[in-house]
Amino acid sequence: MERLSEKLSRLDSYPFHMPGHKRNTEMLGGGLPYQIDITEITDFDNLHGADGVIKDIEDRLAEFYSAKRSFLLVNGSTCGIMAGITALCDFGDRIIVARNCHKSVYRAIELYNLKPCWIYPNKTSEASILGEVTASSVEATIERCPDARLAVIASPTYEGIISDTAAISEVCKRHNVRLFCDMAHGAHLPLFDGFESAYGADIAVTSLHKTLPCLTQVACLNIFSDGIDEKKIALSLGNFETSSPSYPLMASADRCMSILEKRGAQLAKSYHERIEKFYADVAGLRHLRILFKGDKNFDFSKLVISCAGCSITGVDLFALLRDRYMIECEMASLDYVIAMTSICDTQEGFDRLAAALNVIDGEAVGRKTCGESLPQVFSAVPDVRMTAYEARRKALEKLRLCEAVGRISGEYIWVYPPGIPIIAPGEVMTQEIVSKCRLYEASGITVHFEGEKGVIGVIGT
Ligand SMILES: Cc1ncc(COP(=O)(O)O)c(C=O)c1O
Repeated sequence: MERLSEKLSRLDSYPFHMPGHKRNTEMLGGGLPYQIDITEITDFDNLHGADGVIKDIEDRLAEFYSAKRSFLLVNGSTCGIMAGITALCDFGDRIIVARNCHKSVYRAIELYNLKPCWIYPNKTSEASILGEVTASSVEATIERCPDARLAVIASPTYEGIISDTAAISEVCKRHNVRLFCDMAHGAHLPLFDGFESAYGADIAVTSLHKTLPCLTQVACLNIFSDGIDEKKIALSLGNFETSSPSYPLMASADRCMSILEKRGAQLAKSYHERIEKFYADVAGLRHLRILFKGDKNFDFSKLVISCAGCSITGVDLFALLRDRYMIECEMASLDYVIAMTSICDTQEGFDRLAAALNVIDGEAVGRKTCGESLPQVFSAVPDVRMTAYEARRKALEKLRLCEAVGRISGEYIWVYPPGIPIIAPGEVMTQEIVSKCRLYEASGITVHFEGEKGVIGVIGT
């Protein structure tokens, strides 16, 4: 087998995927990382209790995000989510959670034996893409679960859908509930106008590595309101984050902030122009469609390319772009592909994507083979018999999915990306879930089981 470092040295596809730096060394410079890979030697500060050069990065992050305090993270938004939720909840608390949250939210729920009251996002015009979480659905959930003190939503979502966080925050404040927003996909938003409603949470994570020029794993946890105890958050981060934070990663956050401070406005403007040109270049598409263009609740950095009703599936489109045009996209679903863009994308990259889509569009005519769109990852409200924490502590019996209908799951089944569970521990397996797993797999979408494929651990009788 070819070794990882050899494979990496041969990378030559154009990256319409994370990380946001797009390997654009012409823009960002080289120089990372052996010469700068150190530990906490004198004068180089300490991420856990920063008061020197690392605190300086955190202060600049706080300014960029208009936060009261920012914590630089080197274990992704994942560690910020787990630290934030567990700092703001007591063991066994009730918590209000959007069902389309990332797996790290589910991990925090499991770890702290939290009892989730689910909020279900709206549907979009595209059957398989989840929409926004509304303030009214949050309010209804708060009224249903009046003892919950924390609400967690994801906005923007993996697909780029933005909820009116400002309105949700107002509802939460009225009910004395704190709002945690997973903005992992929204690190770049402050560079652009028009996203004011995306703000308002008491606390939020952003993954700098996803959409800004930063190395993979760099993220930050922003505190916006006085109601959040910074010391408690710092202590909780110590539970989840490495005690040997990588200086190359932190240096990439430093360089990222320097680039944004010096050239952010200009880079944002030319990026915006490249996006506009891309839209103009693909305006003649007749079969493929670029979804949500111009929608104010949508993050334009995501190009969601639909092939619903075409003779190719999203999985086919993804493979065509990779094999024929050396364009690597972020993800494929049955009827769409996501290409992630950032200020580091080049004109050449956008031109290559537009040209490829125009050619493929001409070939994508004909019999509709997509059939129906994929259903959403979840549809029915789960029948919850125990918490994930409790379910994880039971003896399990391994069954094939179809044999597990009616039984309580002791495991997760995930669809990845984006990492939303179809079923969580403590929930009852249904025929609908079994059918969905089959449909996803038949469509080339990866369904992740904790053990053998198609087998789930259920709680013994
Ligand atoms: C919605 C969402 N939240 C959180 C995360 C975790 O972010 P990170 O990879 O920075 O840990 C992801 C990762 O893809 C995500 O899609």
